Amino acid sequence: QQTAPFDYVIFGATGDLTMRKLLPALYNQLRIGHVPEDARIIGTARSELSTEEYRTRAQEALEHFLPAPHKDAALIERFLKKIHYVTLDGTKEDPASWDDLHTVLKQSPADRIRVFYFSTAPQLFEAISENLHRFSFITPQSRVVLEKPIGTDSASARAINEGVSRFFKEEQIFRIDHYLGKETVQDIIALRFANPVFNAVWSAEHIQSIQITAAETVGVEGRAAYYDTSGALRDMIQNHLLQVLSLCAMEAPADLGADSVRDAKVKVLKALRPIPPEKVASETLRAQYITGTMDDVKVPGYLEELGDNSNTETYAVMRAYVDTPRWKDVPFYIRTAKRSHKKVSEVVVTFKKTASSLFGKDGEHNRLVIRLQPNEGFGLALNIKNPSAADFSLQHGAMDGRFAPADGSLIPDSYERLMLDAVRGYPALFIRRDEVEAAWAWVEPTLQTWAANKVPMTHYPAGSYGPKEARAFIATTGDAWHEDMKN
Ligand code: BG6
Repeated sequence: QQTAPFDYVIFGATGDLTMRKLLPALYNQLRIGHVPEDARIIGTARSELSTEEYRTRAQEALEHFLPAPHKDAALIERFLKKIHYVTLDGTKEDPASWDDLHTVLKQSPADRIRVFYFSTAPQLFEAISENLHRFSFITPQSRVVLEKPIGTDSASARAINEGVSRFFKEEQIFRIDHYLGKETVQDIIALRFANPVFNAVWSAEHIQSIQITAAETVGVEGRAAYYDTSGALRDMIQNHLLQVLSLCAMEAPADLGADSVRDAKVKVLKALRPIPPEKVASETLRAQYITGTMDDVKVPGYLEELGDNSNTETYAVMRAYVDTPRWKDVPFYIRTAKRSHKKVSEVVVTFKKTASSLFGKDGEHNRLVIRLQPNEGFGLALNIKNPSAADFSLQHGAMDGRFAPADGSLIPDSYERLMLDAVRGYPALFIRRDEVEAAWAWVEPTLQTWAANKVPMTHYPAGSYGPKEARAFIATTGDAWHEDMKN
């Protein structure tokens, strides 16, 4: 449904995220009729550019990043007309710096929805918020979207949250985690709670373990400076993968309202069994990629890409336990990798074997694989009778389902839904402050122990499944990685 008219003010408008994700997302929402005709996008950044020059960059980005079926020259033209550009350093405290933004925003009615999107380094969030307040940009209809990372540890996350909340109320603050905007991640809620076939068996009584993986083929090209201060744990686990874990493990929320869902998720984050420093070596694994081969091409290792020495991990695994009655001693393996053999984000639920004397021997594990991306859908591995056997021996049978929209259209990109949810003031798919802080609190002892180099760094060739130590890691709790499973 179409939103009310809005002005979207993007800080960091010349950056990679704006070009790659934010502008294509707004374009696509215009394409499907959700963006009203008089909506405007106001890009701001320090680069001295005119609106015309910025529109040219935006056009190039759309040509490059939009999927072919969505490219429509006339529509791109219409979209570009909504874009304005203001040269601005959001940390500048002199009023004159803000005059141009004032001039542009004054062209809209005073009560129009304003979304300030901070796609900048998080250290700037407070200063920009303060200036928006100082120069009277924050109206009752204003909201602010905060890009990740929200800090690098508990203390810095708290400082950012406190800094921004001096100027915006919690209900105006939208902390984005683009994984929650993925339709397939939302499907975890649907699969679990709309299907008795899963809902009834979703506990330690029937589930042996859950693996959550987000592996990518890309390295850190061009982002090494950021990435090296972050690493895989901060970049993917603290936010995206702990959000996926929360959705897999939460109790049924009272309703799908923002606070009910977020209350249910934060309970999971707070119930994560702490990993004290002395257990970090056995409950986590970190690794860096070294030179390897991808698609028959030799690619450099992380340190060569970085051009420096570093103890930053590009691969991380954590074994998590949710200490609630439902999940008694069920391991959740959370894993992420750069330069992996293939791009895959998935949740693999392994069910316990049913001991049965009927068939001579136990069947294999039932297994539900929720494919978050690519090839979005789910697979269910079952035991069926081997049709060519004279006796009652079992074999593996598989069911497969796709999450693709029924009308054949492409699954929308995660930013599309989220950017307009911020306009609508619908925060269910954004992270509440207590969630961010609970997630940092859980990963922090691991981060500190790794930083102190008390856990050895392991290695894996680019293009491989990960370090060989990962097999022994998961085997200690009686499991195997999905790629090593028969079904
Ligand atoms: C971002 C990380 O948040 O998520 C990137 O900073 C990562 O390093 C990206 O590549 C992965 O997103 P997706 O949607 O491609 O899985």
